[in-house]
Amino acid sequence: MTTSLSAPRHVPVMVAECLSLLAPERGGLFVDATLGLGGHSEALLSASPSLRLLGIDQDPAALALAEQRLAPFGDRFQAVRGSFFDLRRLLAEKGVAKVAGVLADLGVSSLQLDTPERGFSFRFDAPLDMRMGDTGITAAELANEASEGELEKILREYGEERQARRIARAIVRARQQKPLETTGDLKQVVDSVKGRERWREERIDPATRVFQALRIEVNQELAGLDRFLEQAIEMMDAEGRLVVISYHSLEDRIVKNTLRDRARGEVDPVTGRPLSESQLIEVLTRKPLRPTEEEVEVNPRARSARLRAARRL
Ligand SMILES: C[S@@+](CC[C@H](N)C(=O)[O-])C[C@H]1O[C@@H](n2cnc3c(N)ncnc32)[C@H](O)[C@@H]1O
Repeated sequence: MTTSLSAPRHVPVMVAECLSLLAPERGGLFVDATLGLGGHSEALLSASPSLRLLGIDQDPAALALAEQRLAPFGDRFQAVRGSFFDLRRLLAEKGVAKVAGVLADLGVSSLQLDTPERGFSFRFDAPLDMRMGDTGITAAELANEASEGELEKILREYGEERQARRIARAIVRARQQKPLETTGDLKQVVDSVKGRERWREERIDPATRVFQALRIEVNQELAGLDRFLEQAIEMMDAEGRLVVISYHSLEDRIVKNTLRDRARGEVDPVTGRPLSESQLIEVLTRKPLRPTEEEVEVNPRARSARLRAARRL
């Protein structure tokens, strides 16, 4: 599959839950911080004629497809290119200070995963790129230039990879012979360490964790997440709604902790009571919502989704 404009439509994950928690019938300005192919945005724009939406993405290919899909909504929809880590600045550039709702459906899109030349997937042999946007270092540069210690840390922290040290060492050994250039080169190194046995034990391809780890580092996926959440919470009007869908436990932990801290607020050092003016939100999901079995059956990519939501006080 290529990034042509005829790419199949992405099926948005947990869309009914998103709509019910974002309450689009209130109208006003909403932000889809991860526009992707515009599936969630289309559902929001269709839900209420008085809703306007800014859709942010750092991937120019996704923006082009989403703009085409959402053209029927006219000037109720506007696409914004950039990283949601800079939410406040991106909105300020549009003259926006407050919003009624923010959605973030984190991670990579099906477009990115299914386009071989983007280098996200070991299902295809392609240049080892993995950048969601078109700036920053590629996964190949990372694999060829990071020190063995840095690689080990990335694999351990972002891939929760138990064999991080051995794989980091194998990457360094392999690149001394020849730089790693393709997804196949990287997969071969991982397979040489983990072999087929591990596959049976872990029931996922042995390369999955390694690819996830490099992708997170290349796109700085965790580094800016709490910053984004803080900005989103601050920029919401009273009764504003925030919904975040994450796909691995590292992301979900950041979402959970940031929402919990903002809901708890600061504690008065004298009385030990929470200062009500610093309690910015109410968490609407005590536990993360998970997709139904029916949804996972029709859309396997929903399998690992965890959804958390909050209401601005
Ligand atoms: C899972 S997809 C979103 C799919 C979308 N909800 C839909 O219905 O089509 C995630 C999207 O977020 C984008 N993305 C990830 N991190 C980003 C960031 N820091 N800033 C802007 N966009 C980001 C990716 O490029 C990708 O297109």
